[in-house]
Amino acid sequence: MSSATSDEPAYEKLPAVADDRNHGVQNVDQNGDNRRRYWIRIVAVLLILAAIAVALGVGLGVGLHKHQNSVTPSSSPSSSPLYTTSTYALPDWKLDTSTAYRISKSWNSSEPTTTRVYNLTISDVVGWPDGYNRTLTLINGQFPGPLIEANMGDRLIVNVQNKGVNLTTIHFHGLYQNGTNYMDGTYQISQCGIPPGASFTYNFTVPNQYGTYWYHSHYSTQYMDGVVGPFVIHAQEEDDLIGDMYDYDQVVLVSDWYHGLSDGYLSSYLASGNENTEPVPDNALINGGAYFDCSLTPGDTCYQQDANRTIFSFEQDKTYRLRVVNTGGFAEIIFSVDEHPLTVVEGDGVLITPTTLHKLNVAVAQRYSVLITTNVTGTDTFWVRAALNQYCFATTNPVLVDPEITGVLTYSSSANSVAAPYSNSITADTDSWGDVAANVLCLDLNNTSIEPMVAMEAPEATVFYRIDAGFMIGAYAIDLAYINGTTWKPASSSVLYQAYQMLSPSLSSTVADNNNTELLNTTGTLSLGVFGGDQNQYVINVPDYQVVDVLINNLDDGAHPFHLHGYKFWVMGTGPGAFPYPQYSTFNTTNPMRRDTLQVAAYGWALIRFVADNAGLWPLHCHISWHLEAGLLMQFQVQPDKIAQLEPPAAWAQLCAAQ
Ligand code: C2O
Repeated sequence: MSSATSDEPAYEKLPAVADDRNHGVQNVDQNGDNRRRYWIRIVAVLLILAAIAVALGVGLGVGLHKHQNSVTPSSSPSSSPLYTTSTYALPDWKLDTSTAYRISKSWNSSEPTTTRVYNLTISDVVGWPDGYNRTLTLINGQFPGPLIEANMGDRLIVNVQNKGVNLTTIHFHGLYQNGTNYMDGTYQISQCGIPPGASFTYNFTVPNQYGTYWYHSHYSTQYMDGVVGPFVIHAQEEDDLIGDMYDYDQVVLVSDWYHGLSDGYLSSYLASGNENTEPVPDNALINGGAYFDCSLTPGDTCYQQDANRTIFSFEQDKTYRLRVVNTGGFAEIIFSVDEHPLTVVEGDGVLITPTTLHKLNVAVAQRYSVLITTNVTGTDTFWVRAALNQYCFATTNPVLVDPEITGVLTYSSSANSVAAPYSNSITADTDSWGDVAANVLCLDLNNTSIEPMVAMEAPEATVFYRIDAGFMIGAYAIDLAYINGTTWKPASSSVLYQAYQMLSPSLSSTVADNNNTELLNTTGTLSLGVFGGDQNQYVINVPDYQVVDVLINNLDDGAHPFHLHGYKFWVMGTGPGAFPYPQYSTFNTTNPMRRDTLQVAAYGWALIRFVADNAGLWPLHCHISWHLEAGLLMQFQVQPDKIAQLEPPAAWAQLCAAQ
């Protein structure tokens, strides 16, 4: 079931699994199942023999070569025969997500709050997530990045060491950072970049939120090169509400994937004459892996034997919580698991009254937890699908032959048994859910069809802002993004730092330019304007506690996943065309969906509402990396007199003073 405007309710009663499954292109005859089981047995025997051979090889001191497996996919995924990769070893830059992204159900969410320390070292590494060789920017030398976990109330110390060639910052997506705006990690807004060779420590608490988040570089398009990881906050409250509904808990990152460094694409995207034609991804990844047909890129370095799908080896007759996060830079992904309905229980860190559907649209930066139960009979191996919604693409990419990228779910009998996490040795022959993707538009899951479990009434708004977002040809014929006539680019120094300079020059003595008067200086009436003299910093000042309505008008022919830092907002309404002002007072205020990232449809509008109780400088921006770098960002300055009282550490000021 897609989120589109269809008449079907998103909450539907699902029919029992139909008997008319097509068991694969080659196996439509009734012997298909038997034949498969026969082959599975053969493969199992071969695997055991292979394991013995490996053990002997190691014992004899024979070094294993990294690309030892010899069997490669012969053709398209659906017609691949069953075969095995006997001695597959993960390349050392590849994180084993079958263990690293499995969240323990015995995690104790009610233990006393504590301080948790994570060390993240950024470096540039050559790797090949889908077989295609390229330079990556990674965390701790592995892709994707490590899982960060904490309990609500804990303190996080995240030491970031930059051993890469570019600047970096780390943003914790969806965290409120209440009282620690300077730890929000946004380049040239809440902090200056961490230069190559330097370090910075993020230090903050997570007192009043739980659920599924993620972290990523917020410097240029860098996260698209690999600087991403999941961030999960546990809480007794969450366990009490949904803990009994599932047996196991697994993070599933999905993202579009490009075969080159993002800054190369960015410069051609922003070059003059290119009318907002975003680069089309080459592939998509599921937990950092995917199949790719290397013969599509002749002459390029591509390791077919490592172009492996991610395997989820799940115990039979159990319920799994899948925490699906779209960590991509551009494309919406439609996630599904063949023959397994998805019961949505969380969106962007907000628990949702269970709603069952087949296909889940996940815009860039959004998260959903879905429950699946491994109780299907008749076969034990299924495709997991991450389909790039190509209707959002302005053009085509010849190497993206099939925009529906697959992983494999396979049942196992023993608890927590883990198959080779990345392997082409297992394929499925199940069919996709028949639901016709009604999403010729790039639409969000219908936010009015989902309802938070913990009800919150949206208070009446006290201020209303309208934001018109679109693309225009700017100076030098470059196509730039505009919000209310302004286009963002990184300021010469972090805006928050500049603001502190005005207030307390003692933070650093080396920056002289203090002639900024608009930010932090405003009292009384609301002001709308640019920061200092910088026309590229569009800041809406919210001087005191207000309930803020923001109407986002999307004047563009593409959809935009808008993300607000520092808050969750209520989704008051969305729609096509012009905003229906006469209906403004009639929007539902009884427990509307709350989230931090919302897809605003092409030529559509969205009305979001938040309580401006968190002092800081918070960006509202499109999370599509290309659009962000084209300028689709503005900032809210909330409670400036309280911002003035925040106390960033000296190391934070030093990053700006040093640049
Ligand atoms: Cu994922 Cu500005 O954030």
